[in-house]
Amino acid sequence: MNYKLAQSNYRHLVVGADTKIPLKNGKYASAINFDNAASTPPFVSVMEEINNFSTMYSSIHRGTGYKSKLSSQLFEEARSIVLKFVNADPHHDTVIFVKNTTEAINKLSYRLWKGNKKRVILSSWMEHHSNDLPWRNKFQVDYVETNLNGKLSLENLEHKLNFHKGNVELVTVTGASNVTGYVNPIHKIAELAHRYKAKILVDGAQLVPHHAVNMKPNNPLQHIDYLAFSAHKMYAPFGTGVLIGPQDTFKQGISEFVGGGTAETVTHDWVVWENAPHKEEAGTPNVMGVVALVAAIKTLTAIGMRNIDNYENELTNYANLKLKSIPGITLYSHTVQGEPRIGVIPFNIKGIAHQQVAAILSDEAGIAVRTGCFCTQPYIQQLLSISPKQMVFYKKSGDAPRPGVVRLSFGIYNDFSEINVLTNLLERIVKHPTVYSKWNVI
Ligand code: ALA
Repeated sequence: MNYKLAQSNYRHLVVGADTKIPLKNGKYASAINFDNAASTPPFVSVMEEINNFSTMYSSIHRGTGYKSKLSSQLFEEARSIVLKFVNADPHHDTVIFVKNTTEAINKLSYRLWKGNKKRVILSSWMEHHSNDLPWRNKFQVDYVETNLNGKLSLENLEHKLNFHKGNVELVTVTGASNVTGYVNPIHKIAELAHRYKAKILVDGAQLVPHHAVNMKPNNPLQHIDYLAFSAHKMYAPFGTGVLIGPQDTFKQGISEFVGGGTAETVTHDWVVWENAPHKEEAGTPNVMGVVALVAAIKTLTAIGMRNIDNYENELTNYANLKLKSIPGITLYSHTVQGEPRIGVIPFNIKGIAHQQVAAILSDEAGIAVRTGCFCTQPYIQQLLSISPKQMVFYKKSGDAPRPGVVRLSFGIYNDFSEINVLTNLLERIVKHPTVYSKWNVI
């Protein structure tokens, strides 16, 4: 493939891929978005569906009008479409619509909690704060280690499962890292967890938009018990997220939020709760968000998750090769050819702060990246070898600039030519460190 000329076949599927934005010098350039791990732009199909459906939109579940019945039907059918997309078991699993992955994990942490801190959650060193903080006030949390490159250690997982034998409620791991792009072997992790009678949650926020995910319902050892993901990272940014898990989990107890739609019968003295998923979705649900998610799933399925994975891998390999050839760049993510990964690349430039690099990329070339720790601070501390003592210094020093990295994250509509724009500018930056190290971050 002639990478210099290659264009994404999927660019036209996304809204705003060629929007012109102003640079610092007043000229206009096409916006380049390398911040897809945070949020992707919407698919054209999603916007069209939102528009089309809006003529039929109505409040759902209790309305008697035609539009309400149709909206209710689409909302309920969406659950089957979501289950099918990740090969979950419609007889065993339920789909709960939430706001995003963070809310999904908070919900699950609340629903698995037995009111004391006796049980253990095995999280890991590479987790987003959303798959760490919700567990801390309800469980004993232990963190599975990562190796020097930041990859999850299955040996350490087994060691911890053995150490906490019989007391592990859940192994909770990210499907793919929002910092390094590493894809975890979720079915191997499931197998280990199940051998030790624990369940597994996969934080699929970064994995589901880029890889085919199979919950393997018919494989007693390898199946994924719980899966959470966000529509705004899969081209449907209308405020919907998903929690999938066994219906049984939600039989006992009540949701962290209760109110409209969660109860079947209510007197001042007693309540009969609805079954899951309705008892878990208090208040009027986000119908538009779910319609958007379904449209995105249809488009992703039509493209094919394997094609998405292959194309994004080509982009990532190309970017990695080019970045490696630029002196003074440190890369923090290392995979060999064929090793599963998503298109996330963390790096730094010697002598120029990560915030400055990001500002230069935006000011000079209209390139959007993200810098800092991406709500994954313990992992970044490990990757950058920042000691606990240094962290105490940062805690006390208030607004002293914090360490971090620059992150590129690709989507299916990104082009090789966009990577060329990035690496040309990075080459200029390393050639003129005195100019660029004084760059103002506004
Ligand atoms: N958690 C999202 C990210 O990694 C926002 O950027």
